[in-house]
Amino acid sequence: MSHVLGLKCKECGRTYPKEPVAACSECWGGLEPVYDLDRVRATFTREAVAGRPRDLWRYRELLPIDGEPVVGIGTGFTPLIRAHRLGAALGIPDLWIKYDAACHPTLSFKDRLVAVSLTKAREFGLTTVGCASTGNLANAVAAGAAAAGLSAVVLVPKDLEAAKLTATAVYGATLVGVEGNYDRVNRLCAQIADRYGWGIVNVNLRAYYGEGSKTVGFEVAEQLGWRLPRHVVAPMAGGSLVTKVERAFQQLASLSLVDDAPFSLHGAQPQGCSPIARAVREGSPLRPVKPDTIVRSLAIGDPADGLAAVAAIRRTGGSAAEPTDPEVLDGIRLLAQTEGLFAETAGGTVVATARQLAESGAFAEPGPVVLLVTGHGLKTVEALRSVPFTTVIDGRLESFEAFWEGRAALSA
Ligand SMILES: Cc1ncc(COP(=O)(O)O)c(C=O)c1O
Ligand SMILES: [Zn+2]
Repeated sequence: MSHVLGLKCKECGRTYPKEPVAACSECWGGLEPVYDLDRVRATFTREAVAGRPRDLWRYRELLPIDGEPVVGIGTGFTPLIRAHRLGAALGIPDLWIKYDAACHPTLSFKDRLVAVSLTKAREFGLTTVGCASTGNLANAVAAGAAAAGLSAVVLVPKDLEAAKLTATAVYGATLVGVEGNYDRVNRLCAQIADRYGWGIVNVNLRAYYGEGSKTVGFEVAEQLGWRLPRHVVAPMAGGSLVTKVERAFQQLASLSLVDDAPFSLHGAQPQGCSPIARAVREGSPLRPVKPDTIVRSLAIGDPADGLAAVAAIRRTGGSAAEPTDPEVLDGIRLLAQTEGLFAETAGGTVVATARQLAESGAFAEPGPVVLLVTGHGLKTVEALRSVPFTTVIDGRLESFEAFWEGRAALSA
């Protein structure tokens, strides 16, 4: 049974029927589904949700599908981990990691968006889907399409990390490497959606795809015992995730599933591509940039939801930071060495941002601080570059002894 009444322009409020449509034809604003909250309320209770399978579809009344889910069964409900050791290192007493790299088939939160958008593609009767991607969405679309029996055409900047390319092609997707950065790829995808009528998840399925990101917010609230965190730090590329966390918290509050308590959303971007973070920090208009950073997953210079992200951060009293690439790598190592969790470069950006925000007093309002770690470190191993061995020896005990005793002598 559908809980979605239609689509609505986020800027001018014009309404549209539930169709694959990229943007408002009046003002080019983004679209989002409108839910019949009275109908949602009838079945969406804490008790009902508690009895459902531990995946993202436990929140299905607030997701824009009309029939049964066909993609993403078993995906989501990722761990929310109390991070004592990282908290001590950063000076954040009530710190939590939402490790959104586990419990996903392609090890990033993009599997959430793909579960929703490809289920919707099947409802629309589409047979070919695709995306423009900085890597993680490419992996998720290719895997999701394979599982749903859809053809996939995935376009990416041709010089992405090796793991991101291999973990797209393996699913049998048509993988097109484009010369140029993400913004070039994205413009091409908008043209391809028009030309071929395919379901491009971040273009004409965008209104549905973005809603998948809300499930991170729903999970955090449920895992905290149906309570909103005081602070969330989110990585930003196109800027959608941070806006969808706000929407998730607002929807739970308007359904009285959580107290309508204040929360602040903080944004993380690497210094080499930080149009949203800079606009927040300087109070300036959003200016597109040319990305130059090792954080390839966040390298979107002209973010589609940039203005909405700035507004969500300002509205909630949040802030932003722009760590350098070396600080991002320190963030990856610190998370790994304090919590045993390996993050891709986007996660390192979040940890480095949390460090800077803690130092500047941005978390002064007490309460849980949740860091969204949205992708697994095995996807971006080349970012760490250096040879990881402490030593290399032949297979004899004497060789190990020489190494170990020499090491002990050095540190004595
Ligand atoms: C790992 C990871 N985290 C966060 C993001 C940012 O999401 P958004 O584009 O919604 O801002 C991305 C986007 O590609 C990503 O790959
Ligand atoms: Zn509009």
